[in-house]
Amino acid sequence: MAKLENKIVFITGASEGIGKACAYAFAAEGANLILSARRKNLLDDIGENIEEKFGVKVLTLKLDVRNGDEVKASISNLPEQWAAVDILINNAGLAKGFEKMFKDDPENWDAMIDTNLKGLLYVTRQIVPGMVKRNSGHVISLGSTAGHMAYGNGSVYCATKFGVRAISDSLRIDLIDTDIRVSTVDPGMVETDFSNIRFFGDKERASKVYEGITPLSAEDIADTILYCATRPPHVSINEVIMTPVAQANSFVAFRK
Ligand SMILES: NC(=O)c1ccc[n+]([C@@H]2O[C@H](COP(=O)([O-])OP(=O)(O)OC[C@H]3O[C@@H](n4cnc5c(N)ncnc54)[C@H](OP(=O)(O)O)[C@@H]3O)[C@@H](O)[C@H]2O)c1
Repeated sequence: MAKLENKIVFITGASEGIGKACAYAFAAEGANLILSARRKNLLDDIGENIEEKFGVKVLTLKLDVRNGDEVKASISNLPEQWAAVDILINNAGLAKGFEKMFKDDPENWDAMIDTNLKGLLYVTRQIVPGMVKRNSGHVISLGSTAGHMAYGNGSVYCATKFGVRAISDSLRIDLIDTDIRVSTVDPGMVETDFSNIRFFGDKERASKVYEGITPLSAEDIADTILYCATRPPHVSINEVIMTPVAQANSFVAFRK
């Protein structure tokens, strides 16, 4: 039997990369999905394909997690049959630029802090109270190896991912008297659109990040997130750090 039949899974940033891979991985286990991101046209195509392939239900939501009012309105107005979210995957996130902190454009800081930290807080703030009422749920957030070891030219991105870890650790304590689980999955190099966005569309520079290395794929991360979500109810996977075999941490990688 599918492991997540009739569960409702809310994914932020489901239009690309890891979020999109999670949509397919969770649908394959029978979950119904709320897919959110800014590019609704991509979500609609993914949703249609998933419904056809797996026979689950999909609701797509145009949602910019940076906008607290929009997040509040969208989540509090979810149709009744979608309101009881079982699993929240806080995935929407980005890096903008690769620059020494004292030379960087503060606009890049705003984009990262508003998306990776404030966006995650806005969404979690709206969804967790329902989980508390039902005494059931799982919040899984995308951290990073950058949240364990800061690297040069990445101060604000690293700070946001250290923050995701702190928020998750603290939320786990806030929820200690409930059956709700809180996890972070913290990858190293994953080949998605991530580096292309970090380097403002410079595809050549983005592809160099993965040169001489077999990077993780979005599907590898989705598989691990699914693993966290399908443990017996008394088991909490609090944190997973995962890298390609050729990457030891934020600094050390071996390129062939
Ligand atoms: N790739 C890596 O090497 C790596 C490593 C460690 C951690 N991560 C983390 O994994 C997560 C997913 O990254 P990815 O690699 O899958 O990148 P990606 O392929 O660029 O996908 C990012 C997703 O986030 C969404 N998003 C960005 N800003 C948003 C906003 N303001 N509101 C709503 N959705 C937003 C995008 O959708 P729209 O543009 O349609 O809104 C897209 O679906 C991020 O949190 C990232 O920090 C990635």
